[in-house]
Amino acid sequence: MNEALSNLGNENRSFPPSKEFAAQANAKPDIYEMADKDYLAFWGRQASNLYWHRKWDQVLDWQSPFAKWFVGGKLNASYNAVDRHVLEGRGDRVAFLFEGEPGDSRQITYSQLLIEVKKCANALAQLGIRSGDRVAIYMPMIPEAAIAMLACARVGAAHSVVFGGFSADSLLARIQDADASLVITADGGFRKGGALALKAIVDEALKGKTHVKNVLVVRRTGQEVAFSDRDIWWHDLVDKQSSDHEAQAFDSEHPLFILYTSGTTAKPKGISHTTGGYLTQASFTHRVVFDLKPEKDIYWCTADVGWITGHSYVVYGPLINGATQVIYEGTPDTPHKGRIFEIIEKYGVTILYTAPTLIRTWMKWGDEHPNRFNLKSLRLLGSVGEPINPEAWIWYRKVIGSDNCPIVDTWWQTETGAIMISPLPGITATKPGSAMRALPGISVKVVDNEAREVGNGGGGYLVIDRPWPSMLRGIWGEPERYKQTYWSRFDGLYFAGDGAKLDNDGALWLLGRVDDVMNVSGHRISTTEVESALVSHASIAEAAVVGAKDEITGQAIVAFVILRGGVAADKDLEQSLKSHVTKEIGAIARPRQIMVVSELPKTRSGKIMRRLLRDVAENRAVGDATTLADPNVMKLISEGLKSEKRED
Ligand code: WTA
Repeated sequence: MNEALSNLGNENRSFPPSKEFAAQANAKPDIYEMADKDYLAFWGRQASNLYWHRKWDQVLDWQSPFAKWFVGGKLNASYNAVDRHVLEGRGDRVAFLFEGEPGDSRQITYSQLLIEVKKCANALAQLGIRSGDRVAIYMPMIPEAAIAMLACARVGAAHSVVFGGFSADSLLARIQDADASLVITADGGFRKGGALALKAIVDEALKGKTHVKNVLVVRRTGQEVAFSDRDIWWHDLVDKQSSDHEAQAFDSEHPLFILYTSGTTAKPKGISHTTGGYLTQASFTHRVVFDLKPEKDIYWCTADVGWITGHSYVVYGPLINGATQVIYEGTPDTPHKGRIFEIIEKYGVTILYTAPTLIRTWMKWGDEHPNRFNLKSLRLLGSVGEPINPEAWIWYRKVIGSDNCPIVDTWWQTETGAIMISPLPGITATKPGSAMRALPGISVKVVDNEAREVGNGGGGYLVIDRPWPSMLRGIWGEPERYKQTYWSRFDGLYFAGDGAKLDNDGALWLLGRVDDVMNVSGHRISTTEVESALVSHASIAEAAVVGAKDEITGQAIVAFVILRGGVAADKDLEQSLKSHVTKEIGAIARPRQIMVVSELPKTRSGKIMRRLLRDVAENRAVGDATTLADPNVMKLISEGLKSEKRED
């Protein structure tokens, strides 16, 4: 486990909620007790906040590890997110306050959003998209990304959003795996002051074999794009559609989306989510964890729709709850390092949900940037994606939150669909760095190797011992892999892949991944995926990749490579390998550092001992190496690296 994180759990400062916050909070302390009494009835009550075209007959059908929630119920996700607000008289409320990176902005009310979603749904139907189809979405953070997702949901097609930072190869693999028949994209998006091409990457990806019939293209940057018969401009097709479209009701278990995430193998997993349970937990958690007051709050989650946080806490959760929210296209330092704070001031943002990596980046940039802007509108702060170190937590609270905003550190995963562990603002006294406890209706445990619960003060593996509404329903096309990955480590328990500890007061501390998954800037990347990208380079014979502690990104990718015979390690090699990984997977997987070695530490069964490489990558004394097949390997590696440094 990451050394930096071993300090977690020793922090005992506690921040109780203020009386004022508690008095107005959406969640009241008895919520835990109510949920404990009968958790199925509890989730049934939460589901009743959605609009159901037909009510369910049964809350849960659990054939471990396969769950069906709200069995027999029928609903439409897009109807719940949009139509309902307009029909109930909230059409003039702003849904999106869009801020483009170059400074352009758009406000979209719920009524306008409904028109756009209906037109887009009609366009999808015209392109032959039907219930049960899959649509790949590869977009910048612009309102059309959410419109496209909602239009898919409206017609019953599952969307598969692929983050705009992924390469053509990664996009192709995802299009192929889900067998998508349509891609929705944009010419490009504005990032870091320039126009980043997206359509060109789609064109590159579609040179591979797919069943994609059309590519629907939003004009965002105006940059030049190649156009073929397959391609259609959004403004030519969507804008001309009728704004009448009746949302059809789908089964509660109808597929809503697939979202790919890295596992411990080279092949990403298509995490499958369905409708009723997912929407129930996404909207419930959004209401209680962020204490949303839809008439008053200006909510901002900085995640991209390409990640699960963007699905649950930009699109479905907030829209179902009728929130007014900011979405921002660009990077936090464009055109200046105070951009996020400037936007908070401009719109009077009250709730901010972001990631520790950005918080630590702000700390590094200096307090003068937030201090230049009025952040007094903020009343609640959230964190997600990786453990937040106590220093960053305290800084977030003081400098961004003026010392009077509750902080919710929310633990969850692409697989869990919605928040599972988090303080409830107004109820929980929070400790900096701890996600505190499971939400009402959710049950998690920390267990040892034999699945025995550890007591307070103990550490082990985080497991979930009861089904939850927004749980993944499987891995797209791979039912066995679903069982194997999540349900085989401990009998009858969902194993999340995270280490955790309970402190003496029973508060939960997440300690990072215990498997071969790295967490870089809150994004999951598998070591094997990067290794296989490296060995696909002509110069590389073997590669081992580890996540090493990094002050800003949490972990950074460090690769150890063995060159093929006859290849010399010149100074261009490192650059060439880094570019190769970027091309194969995307910029998020670009290694920070690549070290050429002559051997890799392996056990007798051939498994790479990443722990030892991590010691090297983090400049520590190398730990116990007695299980190595060749005990001298680590010495060779360390000496090799030292002489390499001297040559530099
Ligand atoms: C990590 C993101 C500690 C964890 C929503 C998990 C966290 C993985 C936290 C899921 C947190 C997420 N504290 N660790 N508050 N939130 N993680 O699928 O290792 O992109 O397993 O979902 O991120 O990442 P994913």
